Amino acid sequence: MSDHNQVKITKMDYSKDRPAAENPVKIQDLTLRDGHQSLFATRGRTEDMIPVAEKMDEVGFWALETWGGATFDTMHRFLNEDPWERIRTLKRYITKTPFSMLLRAQNLVGYRNYADDLAEAFVKRASENGMDIFRTFDALNDYRNFETVVRVIKECGKHFQGCICYTMTEPRMGGEVYNIDYYVSKAKDLEAMGADSICLKDMAGLIAPYDAYAVVKALKAAVKAPIHLHSHFTSGMSPMSHLKAIEAGVDIIDTCMSPYAYRTSHAAVEPLVMTLIGTNRDTGFDIKQLAEINEIFEKKVMPKYRHLLDDSKVSIIDISVLLHQTPGGMLSNLVNQLREMDALHKIDEVYKELPRVRKELGQIPLVTPTSQIVGIQTVNNVLFDDENERYKMITGQVKDLCYGLYGKTAIPIDSDVQKKALKGYPRGEEPITCRPAEVLEPELEQAKRDTEGLAQDLDDVITYALYPVTGKRFLNWKYGKEDPPEAVKARTLEEIKKEEELVKLAKLGKLVQKSEKKAPPKTDAIRTFNVFVDNEYFEVGVEEPGGSPIISYVQQLPAGVPVSRPALAAPKPAAAPAPPKPAAPAAPAPTPPKPKAAAPTPAGVEGTPLKAPMPGMIVKYLKQVGDEVNKGETVVILEAMKMENALQAPAAGAVKGINFSSGDSVAKDDVLCVIG
Ligand code: CO
Repeated sequence: MSDHNQVKITKMDYSKDRPAAENPVKIQDLTLRDGHQSLFATRGRTEDMIPVAEKMDEVGFWALETWGGATFDTMHRFLNEDPWERIRTLKRYITKTPFSMLLRAQNLVGYRNYADDLAEAFVKRASENGMDIFRTFDALNDYRNFETVVRVIKECGKHFQGCICYTMTEPRMGGEVYNIDYYVSKAKDLEAMGADSICLKDMAGLIAPYDAYAVVKALKAAVKAPIHLHSHFTSGMSPMSHLKAIEAGVDIIDTCMSPYAYRTSHAAVEPLVMTLIGTNRDTGFDIKQLAEINEIFEKKVMPKYRHLLDDSKVSIIDISVLLHQTPGGMLSNLVNQLREMDALHKIDEVYKELPRVRKELGQIPLVTPTSQIVGIQTVNNVLFDDENERYKMITGQVKDLCYGLYGKTAIPIDSDVQKKALKGYPRGEEPITCRPAEVLEPELEQAKRDTEGLAQDLDDVITYALYPVTGKRFLNWKYGKEDPPEAVKARTLEEIKKEEELVKLAKLGKLVQKSEKKAPPKTDAIRTFNVFVDNEYFEVGVEEPGGSPIISYVQQLPAGVPVSRPALAAPKPAAAPAPPKPAAPAAPAPTPPKPKAAAPTPAGVEGTPLKAPMPGMIVKYLKQVGDEVNKGETVVILEAMKMENALQAPAAGAVKGINFSSGDSVAKDDVLCVIG
């Protein structure tokens, strides 16, 4: 019996118009979304996609991933670009190849479950703006979170790709929860929902080649829909897994153009194309055409992004997953979090605590946002717990998870942990079992009212509804009501060249010679550059009054200092920027943070200080100066590593002196307010 899927070598033919293969592997290109999200902090600008757009359209990709994931957040926040406009612009250049987006199911392109009315409007507008394929995933693989968006995707006549998030609890696929039966049953669920294709989404590069073979073979036997493999390179296994998946009959593989490939991104397309030439699974791609596209990327685009590449290590692979079964990106986030808390020596405790916390929280997959939820809770436990009490500082997101707001966990949440987390939880102490969005109030009408006079169309309203603080700021930039800061403006190749010269000077130790010359007064022509020398960060003001650049000032900033400009110093390019979450379903509940008693208070204010137990950003103060509070009452919500922490009054009394306001970054032990 001949096996349609078996890879057979037929005839080597490298010519551009070689005969089509019997069963070509289809390729989705991720360069314009996951590629720059993984390597360059999602900072890719539309203007840097246009030079390659028409050529990319000619390759013959199954689809181009152009939107979704962190792009929506980063564009409006750091690039002063309208995310909706990107789809429309690229559509003018790319007319043949379908567009694909990554949709976080009921989380859309944000970090919480949104109400049904907003989810419906979002998918409808994405579709009307030109999106063709909706790759939909849920961090818990709870497909009730798909129901609303899938209905709209289908109504719009678009392609619904259902994802199964790939995760592990053992060194290889298997164990009690995430075994082959789990993936097969999830695929059947997706097929029953009408999935046009099914994607095994291995966001952390966990899948080992022979496991890829086994699971793809099983999925191909169990369902009719095409099987698509998305496997990040992170651990170094993905090119091997791709090949084994192809041998098992996978239909579609995700890759990047080589400048956007490897590290935490994806394997490059070119080696795969060459590997398959002459077989019945030949992609049919013209390798010379791919080289031409790379040439444009290298010359015209990469110089603007190279500095964003995390080159803190020589190795391009991260073997964390091979050691700890935990996504590489997640572990490096934890390391950074510990470093900020001066607690790096506790890393081994974190490695030990992590599987335990994950199990207690329902053995959930580790993907945005659950990887952060589990990771930060683990750090909190290691830092704040003692031998008498665990889970002393529970984040708002863990409370939401325990309540059921993210959906159903793979195994039940530990009942003691759940009870503790839900004590005083405002939505109720009894967890829900229904589809999470059923308990969410509609939110679109309120967003319309909030943006009256500012939003010009529904797309604007949705931008605001998804990201109230930064979305509103963006709309003010867009309609000229506020000037966007220099930091969000695009940089030209000429500016890059100047900056590189500055770096050269800095390396020679010549950047600090400004004291030898008397600095001229600053003028309006001043432009600010971020300059990085190894791990040091300088903010450099540059003026050009007709001659060569004059350096007006150099301000050295400590590494890791929270800066409000694009997070160039961000240690992990894959990490999305921390979003302020004013309207999150998260809500405070009593978990005293235990500030140190003998803290210095601001001059003239007497009382007990409430200090930040960790560095972070103030989401909001729930009390004003003069308000009376009880001991243990929540006073301020502090966001650290995207997680919200409710900080309680260390004593009863009136709130005196509040030192910060919403949006401010604070350091560990900063006095947030004084109560007396
Ligand atoms: Co990905």
